[in-house]
Amino acid sequence: MSDFKIAPSILSADFARLGEEVENVLAAGADYVHFDVMDNHYVPNLTIGPMVCKALRNHGIEAPIDVHLMVKPVDRIIGDFIEAGASIITFHPEGSEHIDRSLQMIRDGGCKSGLVFNPATPLSHLDYVMDKVDMVLLMSVNPGFGGQKFIPGTLDKLRQAREMIQNSGFDIRLEIDGGVGIGNIREIAEAGADTFVAGSAIFNTDDYKATIDAMRAELAN
Ligand code: DX5
Ligand code: ZN
Repeated sequence: MSDFKIAPSILSADFARLGEEVENVLAAGADYVHFDVMDNHYVPNLTIGPMVCKALRNHGIEAPIDVHLMVKPVDRIIGDFIEAGASIITFHPEGSEHIDRSLQMIRDGGCKSGLVFNPATPLSHLDYVMDKVDMVLLMSVNPGFGGQKFIPGTLDKLRQAREMIQNSGFDIRLEIDGGVGIGNIREIAEAGADTFVAGSAIFNTDDYKATIDAMRAELAN
């Protein structure tokens, strides 16, 4: 597998200069813009919503925007993100009363859909909707904050998720989110991930290109 994507989480960007930060990280070689939406209800933090997504599009950002909804309930915000220019919309099964319907709403709006799994959330939520997801996102920290430490047990879960995806025969990306950096990206890829969210590991460095290049070098090894 060689189609690796790097998705910097703008949660760790300087929000006072968000347009410039996103331009810089894309120029540095990022593939997706990972957009963390927190509602101070499903998770204990409050971040950004559809207006900011729209503002990035109006600013001229054309790269895929990977919207990670840490929101409950999800259904009433999905349409707003579709209109705001989201490319991929993922949500946590705990945030939806009707998972199949929420996935369908996302695809009906022309976006790629996905489910997100907290460290203690079982992958069995995928059992009957494998044909409706374009992305499986495993959290390797508990959601809510950037800068946390990667939970090692996620590696086994990644292997399980990779096997489920392979057995399904569908074209589904496997994304990892939380505590990813130059030092562990290779073993995470070996466990099956093909899409890597990294917030603090990129935005807390001075040279985004050097950091992303170093991540890609690890993936090429
Ligand atoms: C956490 C978010 C992550 C977070 C990752 O709830 O979903 O996307 O920003 O940040 P780092 O890479 O710093 O762990
Ligand atoms: Zn995220």
